[in-house]
Amino acid sequence: MKIEVFFSPAGVDELSMRGRNVVIIDVLRASTTICTALRNGAREIVPTPDIENATKISSNLSSGARLLGGERQGKKIDGFDLGNSPAEYTSDKVVSKTIIFTTTNGAGAIYKCRYASMAVVGAFVNMSAVVQTIVEVGGTWTILCSGRQGNFSAEDATCAGMIISKVEDVTEVETDDAGMTAVILYKHSKRSIINMLRKSEHGKYLLSIGFADDLVLCSDIDSVPVIPVVEGTGIKLKSAGSRPESDPNKMAVNV
Ligand code: MLT
Repeated sequence: MKIEVFFSPAGVDELSMRGRNVVIIDVLRASTTICTALRNGAREIVPTPDIENATKISSNLSSGARLLGGERQGKKIDGFDLGNSPAEYTSDKVVSKTIIFTTTNGAGAIYKCRYASMAVVGAFVNMSAVVQTIVEVGGTWTILCSGRQGNFSAEDATCAGMIISKVEDVTEVETDDAGMTAVILYKHSKRSIINMLRKSEHGKYLLSIGFADDLVLCSDIDSVPVIPVVEGTGIKLKSAGSRPESDPNKMAVNV
């Protein structure tokens, strides 16, 4: 199979992502938060790149059924219910809720994939589930790293490298130069993902604004074994009916 990697969504748009099988990564923290919210019972996450649009979508839903979540500069947006810390998305807050979600990089990258053939949200916390999905679907995949303000980010590239490396444990993979580089990065950091996060630019920024615990959550491999899939305007847990067949309790892939 074939896996290519984009280190940032700059230059990517809805048309270029149309018809692809895509994994979108924003380790710090949008992908991790989306996995956590869905695992904890959120009905759906609706990603949108801008605050104005988030507020508009939210005003069309009944107040008991929705929450506004997201960040700017890593902090909760004024008037929003939740920020972008996975720790905030507990069952008591999110169960059965539609979460309108806007973040600086991740939500926009996911939004660009709404016409993809299949778009899955990936992070360290759902590594095996993502790898299993890629292996089962096969064919050609694109890993889209959300990066940081249109630039490369070490944590997303390392996560992309881990995905490729784990798929390579199961089947032959043809990748591009970005994919090869991502695998090298992963092999360099694999002994301590948390250290890599602490040394990354965005990791250092999150530490400086008091989110040390989030780095621990975001580095915890396979702690949230779900497959969030983009379906129309929202992101939902992969349902039994959507492809591929998968049961997190029957993980065939050894990570
Ligand atoms: C983003 O989408 O840029 C983020 O997830 C930033 C963050 O809240 O850490």
